[in-house]
Amino acid sequence: MTDQSLQDQALQAIAAAPDLDALQAVKTRYVGKSGLVTKELGTLGKLPPEERKARGAEINAVRGAIEAALTEREALLKQAALDAKLASEAIDVTLPGLPLPAGGLHPINRVYDDLTAIYERMGYAVIEGPEVEDEHHNFEALNVPWYHPARDLQDTFWLEDGRLLRTHTSPMQIRYMVNHEPALKVVVRGKVYRYEATDATHEAMFHQLEGLVVGDGISMTDLKGTIAEMARGLYGPTARVRFQPSYYPFVEPGADFAVWWENPRGESKWLELGGCGMIHPNVFKAVDDLREAEGRERVYEGKTGFAFGLGPERIAMLKYGIPDIRYFYANDPKVIGQFRGELG
Ligand code: PHE
Repeated sequence: MTDQSLQDQALQAIAAAPDLDALQAVKTRYVGKSGLVTKELGTLGKLPPEERKARGAEINAVRGAIEAALTEREALLKQAALDAKLASEAIDVTLPGLPLPAGGLHPINRVYDDLTAIYERMGYAVIEGPEVEDEHHNFEALNVPWYHPARDLQDTFWLEDGRLLRTHTSPMQIRYMVNHEPALKVVVRGKVYRYEATDATHEAMFHQLEGLVVGDGISMTDLKGTIAEMARGLYGPTARVRFQPSYYPFVEPGADFAVWWENPRGESKWLELGGCGMIHPNVFKAVDDLREAEGRERVYEGKTGFAFGLGPERIAMLKYGIPDIRYFYANDPKVIGQFRGELG
C-alpha cells in the first residue's frame, strides 16, 4: 500500500468513527504499538542508511497527518458526548418541587392546647413539673395515708433510690404552693405513670391536666363554675356537667366530674373526665411545713382553694374516634400520620 492510500484510509476511518471507542480502535490500528504506520517505521532499519532519513520523514508525515486528524476528531466526539450527557441530564429548575412530608401535632398535644387555651382565657398560668418524684410530694404531703391503695407497689413504679415516677400531677400542687404565695391559679400539664396492665383504656404512661386555685373565700361553686366553663369551651355553650361525690385524700369534699358529650353523628354519653375537690387543710399544712423548713413564711393556713385533675386521652379518644389508648403511643404512622395539617 502506498503512503497516500494508507493515509487516506486512516483519515476516512477517523472521520467515520461514530464515538470515542471506535476512534480508539482506529488509533490502535494505525498508530498503536503494532499499528500499520508503526510497523512501517520498524522497516526503516532494513533500508540502506542513506535512504533511511528520507523514508523516515515520509512515514512521519503520514503519522503526523493521522495523529492530527485523531486529535481533532477526538475533541469533536468528546464535545458531542458532553452535549448528549448534558441534554439527557438536564434539570428543569422551573418545575415545582416535591413536597416534604410534613409533621403534625400529636392528638394529645392538640387536646392540651385546646384545654390550656380555655384556662389561659380564665387567667391561669400553665406549668410543668418533674416526672421523677419523691414519696413526700407524690403521697405524704398530699395527705395520702400509708394504707391508701395508690401507695401499693402494684400501682407505682419505684426507682431503686426510693424515688418514683409520679402517679399523678398533684405533687405539682405542693411544689407550686411551696414556691408561690396565694392567690394563685395554675394548670399543670404532663405525663404520669401507673404500674398496671394495659388494655384499650389503660396505659402505663398517660397524661393529666391538673388545676389548682387558692385564695380567700374560694368555694365549691367556683370549682363547679370552672369545670362548666371548661366543658363549654370544649363542647359548646350547651355543654352539661355532672358532679358525683368521690374520695381523694387531698380534697374534702371530693368529687368526680363528667361532661355530657354529643357528636354530630348523634352519639352522646356522659364522659367521665376526672376528679376534683376543695383542698384538704392537711395539704395546706404540709405546704406550710415545707415552706417553714426552707425558711419561708407560713401563708396557707386559713386559705381555701380547689384542685382538679383530668385525662386528655379520654377527650382525644372521643374527639378523634380513636378506639384504643395504646394507639397514641405505638407510633404507628398510619394512626399518628392522620394528624397532619389543620385537622380538627
Ligand atoms: N390526682 C387525682 C388522680 O390522679 C385526680 C385529682 C386531682 C383529684 C385533683 C382531685 C383533685 O386520680
